[in-house]
Amino acid sequence: MKHLRIPDVIKKKQQGEKVTMLTAYDFILAKILDEAGVDILLVGDSLGMVLLGYETTLPVTLEMMIHHSQAVTRGVQRALVVADMPFLSYQVSVSEAVRNAGLLLQEGGVAAVKIEGGRIMADVTRRLVEVGIPVMGHLGLLPQSVHQLGGFRVQARDQDSAERLLEDAQILEEAGAFSIVLESIPADVAQRVTSQLSIPTIGIGAGPHCDGQVLVSYDAFGLSQGYIPSFVKQYAELGTELKKAAETYISDVRAGHFPSQEHCFNPSAETKSE
Ligand code: KIV
Repeated sequence: MKHLRIPDVIKKKQQGEKVTMLTAYDFILAKILDEAGVDILLVGDSLGMVLLGYETTLPVTLEMMIHHSQAVTRGVQRALVVADMPFLSYQVSVSEAVRNAGLLLQEGGVAAVKIEGGRIMADVTRRLVEVGIPVMGHLGLLPQSVHQLGGFRVQARDQDSAERLLEDAQILEEAGAFSIVLESIPADVAQRVTSQLSIPTIGIGAGPHCDGQVLVSYDAFGLSQGYIPSFVKQYAELGTELKKAAETYISDVRAGHFPSQEHCFNPSAETKSE
């Protein structure tokens, strides 16, 4: 099976094909989503909230991102794997950003990194790309700036901030980003950004006109426990299914229905499971 690479993702925009992206944080989910045919797997720092129960993505460290990236890349044969650079791993200086992004590729095994921010991240983006580290940008709602933004809110709602976001997108493309995530912005703003760029935009809560879409898998497949944003479509209720299965197991054990004969080793019979 051919591994998807950065030029394949860019070509999809040129050919008018949508890019599909989902988050994954572990081996088994990565394997399932890869086998389903998703184009990009994002080891998102959303793992801090979704998997580890933090209220924001800010406590996520580089070590955590490397650990989860290793698990995801071991499960993937086709998808392009991108890892989020966590808070403070790229904001302090360009050289720290290069070292930390390099570690995500070298130890985590990912093919690209994602960083949040527009013009302020132009130098970091340019340098990473110069040294051979592909960069996905991220504009609109920036979860690592949640305190500055006053919460997880829709961005670029007025004319000035929409124009600023358009400029930021242009700057990131010029700096060498190979695609840009647009999070929680009005659909018409995402449409303008998408039509002015030659690299793909990947939307989350940014309407239908982006070149691709991304969702947090745990939200889309019904495994999240907390608040689910209204832009998420629920494709499965795995949490409910899992709870039902666990309840059945518990009552089977309590009633003595499990294990039954078929789940026991029988020394007189030949078994393959020994
Ligand atoms: O961390 C994440 O999951 C993300 C997506 C919301 C795009 O950045």
